Amino acid sequence: MKQFYITTPIYYVNDVPHIGNAYTTIMADTFTRFEKLVGRNPYFLTGTDENATKVAAVAKEKGIPTIEFVDKLSEAFQGVWKNLDVEYSDFIRTTQPRHTEVVQAIFKQLQDQGDIYKGEYEGWYCMSCETFFLESEVGEEHLCPNPECRKKCELLKEDNYYFALSKYSDKLLKYIKEHPDFLLPEFRKNEVVGFIKQGLRDISISRKNDGWGIPVPGDESKVIYVWFDALINYISAAGYLSDPKKFTELWPADLQLMGKDIFVRFHSTFWPAMLMALGLELPKHLIGHGFWTIDGEKISKSKGNAINPAKVAENLSKETGTKVEICKDVVRYYLCRETSFGQDADFSFENFRGRYNSDLSNDLGNILNRTLGMLNSYNEGKVPDSVGGDLIGEIKQACDKVLEAMDKFAPDRALNAIWDLISVGNKYINDKAPWILKKEEKYDELYKVLVSALETVRAVAILIEPFMPNVAKEIARQLNIDINVKWEDIIKEGAFKGVETNKPEPIFPRIDMKKQNKEKEKKVEEVKPQVPEEKPEEKKEEYISIDDFAKVDLRVATIVEVERLEGTDKIYKMKVDDGERIRTVCAGMVPYYEADYMVGKQIIIVANLKPRKMKGVLSEGMMLAGGEEVVKFLSPEAPLPNGSKIR
Ligand code: MSP
Repeated sequence: MKQFYITTPIYYVNDVPHIGNAYTTIMADTFTRFEKLVGRNPYFLTGTDENATKVAAVAKEKGIPTIEFVDKLSEAFQGVWKNLDVEYSDFIRTTQPRHTEVVQAIFKQLQDQGDIYKGEYEGWYCMSCETFFLESEVGEEHLCPNPECRKKCELLKEDNYYFALSKYSDKLLKYIKEHPDFLLPEFRKNEVVGFIKQGLRDISISRKNDGWGIPVPGDESKVIYVWFDALINYISAAGYLSDPKKFTELWPADLQLMGKDIFVRFHSTFWPAMLMALGLELPKHLIGHGFWTIDGEKISKSKGNAINPAKVAENLSKETGTKVEICKDVVRYYLCRETSFGQDADFSFENFRGRYNSDLSNDLGNILNRTLGMLNSYNEGKVPDSVGGDLIGEIKQACDKVLEAMDKFAPDRALNAIWDLISVGNKYINDKAPWILKKEEKYDELYKVLVSALETVRAVAILIEPFMPNVAKEIARQLNIDINVKWEDIIKEGAFKGVETNKPEPIFPRIDMKKQNKEKEKKVEEVKPQVPEEKPEEKKEEYISIDDFAKVDLRVATIVEVERLEGTDKIYKMKVDDGERIRTVCAGMVPYYEADYMVGKQIIIVANLKPRKMKGVLSEGMMLAGGEEVVKFLSPEAPLPNGSKIR
């Protein structure tokens, strides 16, 4: 039976992961757990990328034999994932024979069939990105064009082996066109198409053998280019050329996740072309997620903000007295909830602590504590033999929305749906006021309300397991039920029959937001730079580059609802349809427009602006408008589909 095969990139072993690169793996683990819940038999691969020149360079700098160095770091990676409750099915190391043998066999096969040939190459090489660039790409200062890197490149001239990438341009474009969900999100797919249309060059796939890497078969003077080697991990680990049965069960991969820095050139161009050359099917979905910054700054070891996620959890645990396992889940939750998958996001400590209080302590903690608290004081924790069922419709709706969102790879939207259910549950308890029913001795009604509330908490616990496995476990312990159930059993009559619950114990004690988080100022973990970072000279620019402009995600949206933001006299709270979802946008338009006039109008929004709370409402974007005394909002000249990108 075909398994749902999920992969992360394999990590360079030059340092342990920080919160940004742990994100890819945490997301993959979340998707894996979800696929398990819906019964799709997932298989999750991660691993370490050990043959890179830069890995050998760091080991040399530290005076450690490279193999010892990679052994230690690969082990450290496995420890970090274990600590973060990441449950992978396999962990591949590119120094393992099961991988190196397949890489060499593939090299040989492609050479025999003419997809790999020998030639001379001169180009600008960025060691940090392990990539060759053209003179025109590195500019006069010879800086790496990757905006996340910008380190100095060196001119290399070598006799090399080439992979005939250029001959796959048309085939790739055709495939991308015919498979609209192959590359996601949409705006990154467009980047790939633009990149391929610029013209693909054949790619040098060998380097001088300096004693580290996989030798080119039949030519020991060279080693195989690390990206050619690394990409193959996805099939070598799946049993390609070694275990045909396993390979049939796994390939093609269903979901390959990676950050945007390695999406366009490597995973969406080079990788599918290699697979085409091998005559293998392409993965179903490749997703390029955005980049995390920390408190608005790029994550960099030299800045000391390369935070280890486990350390963030430890600090939260110290501050709140919450168990550290629960705090690890809070980090996972924050990473999933805070960003629209695909977009860049910022890890702000203020916001992290705020979300802990509002979403977890208030909303989730509240529904659990009050439900169990009432049951304990009204009926000694014994679940009455009563049919609940009042919120079955809402639970069913939440399940549908979660499934739909996860199938569209939007974990943030899945969490929104779960939190909507929590709000419905809390409101239901407020409206039904069980404490009054108790006072009036209306026991039938009281028990129906308590059981309905318990059913909601149970459904929430099951649904949040992929995101917060330890929290789910703890809720199940307090409810004293088993939540390892099938998707179709989330709604199950009699799930509480005969159950005697445990006493409620608050899972998320509140943070006193007035107290400064001392840990915040202290850099959470000082990490000494291990690879020397060359700083490009500061240069004052009068212009922004096209890349700078491209960072602003401008899109067409339609206003569907407008109302005054409570507690303000200038701001409207609007619901706008951006083609993918309905989002809330607040704008100071009250002095200039009537609410009714705005409904139905198309506007332009900045879709990737960091969300901001205004009077308790989260504004998820900005609408464009201009003018001083007379202010007008911007609209397309003629209607465009919602979500159209402005270029
Ligand atoms: N070894 C290559 C991948 C080879 S896959 C065949 C590599 N490794 S990495 O260690 O540099 O990156 C691992 C993952 O972390 C990538 O998905 C990368 O995009 C991601 N991130 C690195 N910094 C990040 C942020 N600041 N934010 C989000 N993701 C980040 O590339």
